[in-house]
Amino acid sequence: MRHIAFAATALCLGLPAAAQDAPSCPLPADRYDMSAEQIEAMYDCMSAYMIEGYQSQGNEIATAYRDWTQASTRPAVAGVHGERFLNTFVNDVAAEQYLKYAEGDFEMPVGSVLAKEMIGVTDDGAARRAPLLIMTKVADAPETDGWRYSGVQPTGQALNVSQSFCHDCHQNFDASDSMGYPLEEVRVSQ
Ligand code: HEC
Repeated sequence: MRHIAFAATALCLGLPAAAQDAPSCPLPADRYDMSAEQIEAMYDCMSAYMIEGYQSQGNEIATAYRDWTQASTRPAVAGVHGERFLNTFVNDVAAEQYLKYAEGDFEMPVGSVLAKEMIGVTDDGAARRAPLLIMTKVADAPETDGWRYSGVQPTGQALNVSQSFCHDCHQNFDASDSMGYPLEEVRVSQ
């Protein structure tokens, strides 16, 4: 209700509604047992608000990634990344190889960028924006198997990430060049 009161106040003062007003996107009681339709409805409700936040400080990847290839059919909870709903996009350099969801002896081409949106859930069961997480394949990061980890906060500011924190987990996916891939049920079929 709170944001409605804010919007009403802004209207009374003749101000444009604050750009950062959160939409009200309530979730069902068991948010980890949502149908595909319920998850899609939540995403539709959050989508414009998320992109507005990520892009608000002009971050280059945040501005570009929604035009890339979506690598999952919808957001899904994978049980890592803080039990958030995850939705991955990959750039043109990465798309062909990423969408094979391959395991084996391969490496992603330098210049690949993978961006993963996250939607969190508050204790009272409302959806909220979480950071956009990014992996970029570079030529000069042997200690992280060529991946540079970064992120963008919902406020648009760069997220402070520890390369070793991210890679300590991602290196477990050593059969897939350190990539975790979306859950099988939401992979894009070729
Ligand atoms: C505890 C393990 C763990 C940690 C820590 C972790 N990740 Fe992940 N990450 C995963 C898993 C598992 C997936 C695949 C899940 C999915 O997309 O459904 C994934 C997926 C991703 C993807 C999508 C590309 C892909 O398929 O791998 C990006 C981008 C990403 N993580 C970035 C990061 C960044 C940046 C950090 C550090 C801030 C980080 N991750 C920390 C486990 C982890």
